[in-house]
Amino acid sequence: MKISDIRLQYEKGSLNEHTVGDEPLVFFEKWLHESINAAVQEPTAMVLSTCDSNGCPSSRVVLLKGLADNKLHFFTNYLSLKGNQIDSNNQVALLFFWPELERQVRFIGIASKISERDSDEYFNSRPIESRVGAVISPQSQVINDRSQLETAYIRLIESPEVETIRRPEHWGGYAVTIIEAEFWQGRPGRLHDRIRFRNENNAWVKERLAP
Ligand SMILES: Cc1cc2nc3c(=O)[nH]c(=O)nc-3n(C[C@H](O)[C@H](O)[C@H](O)COP(=O)(O)O)c2cc1C
Repeated sequence: MKISDIRLQYEKGSLNEHTVGDEPLVFFEKWLHESINAAVQEPTAMVLSTCDSNGCPSSRVVLLKGLADNKLHFFTNYLSLKGNQIDSNNQVALLFFWPELERQVRFIGIASKISERDSDEYFNSRPIESRVGAVISPQSQVINDRSQLETAYIRLIESPEVETIRRPEHWGGYAVTIIEAEFWQGRPGRLHDRIRFRNENNAWVKERLAP
């Protein structure tokens, strides 16, 4: 089988200007719940793209952890590559791909750190293994070998300090305020449906895009 011969026909749904409604995040939530109900694996996984100060892009998957007031939330290490890039350029892109439903959602937004209190609340709700991992991992730094991580992990998880573990200052949440959203539904013959919302003077402008 040649890679170039791999193709699917998309025929699971359709999308029109009426069905998406007038609020992109309301419609997004509807699609997210449909993905959860359709047993999509990792329905909250989204590709986050950031750029460095020269405009060089970089993408990775993070998990959506909240949705409120036209904002999408995720958590990470503020000193990671993505954290440093957001410090110098807070414009980001987010992308969901739900292949089981033949759907894609694209967002452009502005990232800002959430409050320390909200980061604490989420950090404290995580399983102890994840909390320990967040404390001991210098995310995105070069390390000598895996044993360096495992040693630090075991030392902390087996110590009495694990009882009082607290969120490190360099770990927390970002809220991405959405300024553009595009919903894509695969259709037969590559005549896919694409409906985009863009923010113009604090109002959503809804447009259909050619596939
Ligand atoms: C399914 C999945 C979920 C992930 N969720 C997160 C997350 O919520 N936060 C995070 O910091 N990294 C998460 N990662 C790891 C990131 O993709 C990435 O490796 C890490 O954040 C370092 O990225 P950076 O060096 O570009 O900052 C996830 C990876 C996968 C595949």
